[in-house]
Amino acid sequence: MKNQADFGNVYLFVENVAFCFDLYLTREILADTKNFGVTQNFLAESVSDPGEEWFAMRRNLHRPLSPSSSDAQITRVSDYVKLGLDSLARPGGSCTCDISGQAFVAGVAMRSASELLFGQAQPRLELACHKLLSILGRVTGNALALPSVVPTPARLTIGYRHKAALSEVRRVMDKGEYAPGSACDALVKNLPEDSKGRSSEMLIGAMLAAYRVSAAAMSWCIFYLLQNVEWLAKSYREAEAVGDNEVSLDDIPSIHAVVMESLRLRPPTWLLDRVALRDVVVCNRFSVPRGGTVTMSPFLVQRGTVNFVRPHEFVPERWISKFPGDNNQAFLAFGAGKRTCPGRNATVRVIAGFLLGILQWSSNISARVDLQSVRVLTQNAQTPEGLSYRVVKR
Ligand code: HEM
Repeated sequence: MKNQADFGNVYLFVENVAFCFDLYLTREILADTKNFGVTQNFLAESVSDPGEEWFAMRRNLHRPLSPSSSDAQITRVSDYVKLGLDSLARPGGSCTCDISGQAFVAGVAMRSASELLFGQAQPRLELACHKLLSILGRVTGNALALPSVVPTPARLTIGYRHKAALSEVRRVMDKGEYAPGSACDALVKNLPEDSKGRSSEMLIGAMLAAYRVSAAAMSWCIFYLLQNVEWLAKSYREAEAVGDNEVSLDDIPSIHAVVMESLRLRPPTWLLDRVALRDVVVCNRFSVPRGGTVTMSPFLVQRGTVNFVRPHEFVPERWISKFPGDNNQAFLAFGAGKRTCPGRNATVRVIAGFLLGILQWSSNISARVDLQSVRVLTQNAQTPEGLSYRVVKR
């Protein structure tokens, strides 16, 4: 691979491993699904060209996860966030609720993932996915993990838990325990019987994708709101104004802007990898040999001074009145091209619903730790490790 003068933001580590944070190149590579495949699936197994079958399966997710189908999630999520806070709050006394770590947001994210994909809660599947995810962290994003073919104890547990999750999805499919119009319904109806196994894999992959990253994004929103009193106050006013009505994103522009700006500053999926399926020359200049890996970073692109005005600052205004110096093509938190996140519209609504629920339930929210001490955990999703906050009931 050559580091061409035209693409300054490309670093070559060894002959076939490059790190690229040039926007133009990143978008070209992500768009080119013919020549570049994803490097790993959710089980950290090497994969190559997914073929047309993958895209055919993916198409079934589009309608159930579209903006119009997922608008209802804003109110739904905010309702169960309020119920969750009620159950966590200390009875009597000041009725406060202390939220430490990721457990609360993880519960919200997992529940919303089942609602998005199956149209209803799936407690058994959620537990199975949670167990699978907790062990996957040992190998995914771990550069020292042995390859997937080596049967280490962690790999064996992954295999066992993966089978358990798979059989749970199959049970849900076979018993018809999903809502009409859900992603699961579309997959069952539109695909031949022999692709049920692959559809189940896709549903588990989507559950895991939805769970980990959405939970991280929810925490980042709180992290930034805690430091930006002006936006916290605006968000409170908006949450109060909409009351118990059905809400769409247009009704809560400040909350929506907080979600987008948090995803810009801290995209949970901060690295994306692609492997060249054959010798490729990108943009007539940048050559990648077959098997070569290119790692791209939505995080660095979204922090680039050429892409956003005041790139390192939390400026939600940019999502309300467009800044001329911002390039929205550089927003890559959900990837780009044919393999862009199919849950992107739905998840923005879920995260907005999470904020709405907290803001409507509480009169005040405050940090329980020095926010400077919050570490950024980057092993899987970019997560604010050590964030802890207190919400006081209205
Ligand atoms: C804050 C929340 C989320 C973020 C930041 C996020 C981010 C991403 C990114 C960056 C990709 C592209 C990966 C790549 O190109 O290699 C992706 C793929 C994917 N996401 Fe999301 N995602 C989120 C939520 C969700 C939700 C809620 C769902 C499903 C309900 C979902 C399902 C998927 C699936 C199935 C893929 C794989 C698509 C493919 O490979 O064709 N994600 N996500």
